[in-house]
Amino acid sequence: MTGPSTMAGIDPGGTPPTGAAELRALAVATLEGNWEHDHTVPSRTLYPHQWSWDSAFIALGWAHLRPDRAWRELRTLFAAQWADGRVPHIVFNPAARVGSYFPGPDFWDSAVADGAPAVATSGLVQPPVHALAAWLAYRRAPSATARSALRWLYPRLVAQQRYLTGARDVGGAGLAAIVHPWESGLDNSPAWDEPLAAVPADAAVLRAYRRHDTTHADAAHRPTDLDYARYVALVESYRAGRYRDEGLVGRHPFLVECPLVNTALGAAEHALAEIATVVGVDPGGHRERAGRITAALVERLYDPVTGTFHPRDLRTGRLVPARTALGLVPLLLPDLPAGQVEAVLTEARSPRFGLAARMDRPLPSHDRTAPDFEPLRYWRGPSWLNLGWLLWQGLRTHGRPELAAGLAASMTALVATAGCHEYFHPDTGAGLGSPRFGWTAALLLDVLATG
Ligand code: SER
Repeated sequence: MTGPSTMAGIDPGGTPPTGAAELRALAVATLEGNWEHDHTVPSRTLYPHQWSWDSAFIALGWAHLRPDRAWRELRTLFAAQWADGRVPHIVFNPAARVGSYFPGPDFWDSAVADGAPAVATSGLVQPPVHALAAWLAYRRAPSATARSALRWLYPRLVAQQRYLTGARDVGGAGLAAIVHPWESGLDNSPAWDEPLAAVPADAAVLRAYRRHDTTHADAAHRPTDLDYARYVALVESYRAGRYRDEGLVGRHPFLVECPLVNTALGAAEHALAEIATVVGVDPGGHRERAGRITAALVERLYDPVTGTFHPRDLRTGRLVPARTALGLVPLLLPDLPAGQVEAVLTEARSPRFGLAARMDRPLPSHDRTAPDFEPLRYWRGPSWLNLGWLLWQGLRTHGRPELAAGLAASMTALVATAGCHEYFHPDTGAGLGSPRFGWTAALLLDVLATG
């Protein structure tokens, strides 16, 4: 839909082709259109239920417009929290059309687990960005209602942390392990190719099920059937153990420490320290835990040879070599040591990712110089606003306003040119995936309001 000159033609320092007021109106209309009585769907077609990390980003967007909806969004999600503290990555809307999404509630069968809520959910988690989103939403629109929402959320956010640093500390070093690529949020990132190769893939599995995503989006923009065969096999493995985490080593074929999940985990402790102060709890324990998580992240996931962060495959004990945008996300941590801050900035500014005060192309989700870079296929190259937003927060946290402004201008230009798409072609900026995507709208509102 747009040519390679599109991004180059936009002056990142100047006014976007569509005015800020029109852009804001587009984002508002997108969120309004996806609002579904007590939560927001990421997309009416591709994702017709409630998704965990989408809801966190979306709540931050609502805080700019309708703070009541921000808190409602998070309350609906956390009402589906499991007894063990896990916040499910999908909360199924019982009113949605049966068969509108695969894998649906029947496939997950969350009732097999002890402590699952009455509402049907998935059994997996997603990056725990909720405490950060709740804190930023509160800061954007503080009020008595917001304080009481924080009081309700606080123990639930603490339980979410306890689950991830307890049952999910499979590696024993204080980081959370993921049991499925869906838990990273970056489903088909090249980061998972190596660990996934150990997962038995049986194409026959997919003859028993039907994907729905490829009826709503171009198959070339989505994970492959082989990816899906493995995704299904991993859910079947986890479900067979009734979603319990004891004894995963040896019985579950995918166990990885993800830099994004663990950055969110550390950022959550920093946010919880702030929230604790508002709700009248001693923040000390949160600060201490934040420090421990950052130290473990640096110790376990930073590679001094590449100068970036990588996932650690707990089945082999090795770092995964792929250099994806996951490696840049730890910049979000305010206590990231100076050496790693500099290293991540170097990686981000290299031709792999092209971060600059005046960006000529959008931030890709994968190293654009890598042979397995795929500009159309979901998390294997396309530009996503949530990755940009996380890096943008990190740049502001670490005092790099020119780079933050360059990234903000690039993200704004993407939406100004293509609309609130789910993701964007990393060369041309053309819109890909769902055309009316919740977190794109929400995070754009945050970027526009921050200026
Ligand atoms: N991202 C997954 C999907 O594409 C779900 O978490 O359906």
